[in-house]
Amino acid sequence: MPRPLVMGNWKLNGTKESVEALLSGILPAAESVKDSADVAVCAPDIFIDQVARKLTDTAIAWGAENNDVHTSGAFTGETSPTMLKEFGCTYVLVGHSERRQYHGETDASCAQKYALLQEHDLIPVLCIGETLEERESGRTNDVIRTQLTPVLEDLGVDTLKKAVIAYEPVWAIGTGKAATKEMAQEVHAFIRQLIAEKSAEVAAGVQILYGGSVKAANAEELFAQADIDGALVGGAALIVEEFSAIIKAAG
Ligand code: G3P
Repeated sequence: MPRPLVMGNWKLNGTKESVEALLSGILPAAESVKDSADVAVCAPDIFIDQVARKLTDTAIAWGAENNDVHTSGAFTGETSPTMLKEFGCTYVLVGHSERRQYHGETDASCAQKYALLQEHDLIPVLCIGETLEERESGRTNDVIRTQLTPVLEDLGVDTLKKAVIAYEPVWAIGTGKAATKEMAQEVHAFIRQLIAEKSAEVAAGVQILYGGSVKAANAEELFAQADIDGALVGGAALIVEEFSAIIKAAG
């Protein structure tokens, strides 16, 4: 089984003071599980230097929430993989549904970012998931298959040896309505099966995280599912007690 991974996605939240308090607060939980689980936080770019200073040589890795498709040049407001690498990032989220929804990201642009990150030795965390309308019309598996196609067909299944997949049903994000453990497991198993059709070895090794209203109260039952290898956590990742409990549930 892949090693569990619990990752926080801070989204557009934080102050210098809250970042310091949050990291100090969650470090003990991360240290306590370091032999059995990975822990990471993905922060807004402006906090990455502060995060790096605080987390170097600790049990928590860090990353960014997005990257540009270029490494440098006249692209005002963007951050490149080379910059993220220089600041010690391990992971970068790719194609979070909020970026797909508000910034026009597509499966093709996500694949471009994913490939560029790997070229710079960063681990893409590819976020996929269906909307409520897609689920209710029975199209969940089709959506998942389509979102994975550029990686599986164009970039190649072997790229998943150095990537993470996050299944985040859009209707569960920030709503307090998490997928049930059965619903999440069913889609995770489908994702692993799609990958296994290309390579059983890669399918067995890839970390597939669940995201969408994960809290201390539901983490344990989600992590007990055969194909759920951890969580990508939004709101609860900003609360020391909640995120610490989720980390411990994975350990
Ligand atoms: O990337 C994490 C995410 O979108 C889930 O957010 O607040 O429902 O845990 P939340």
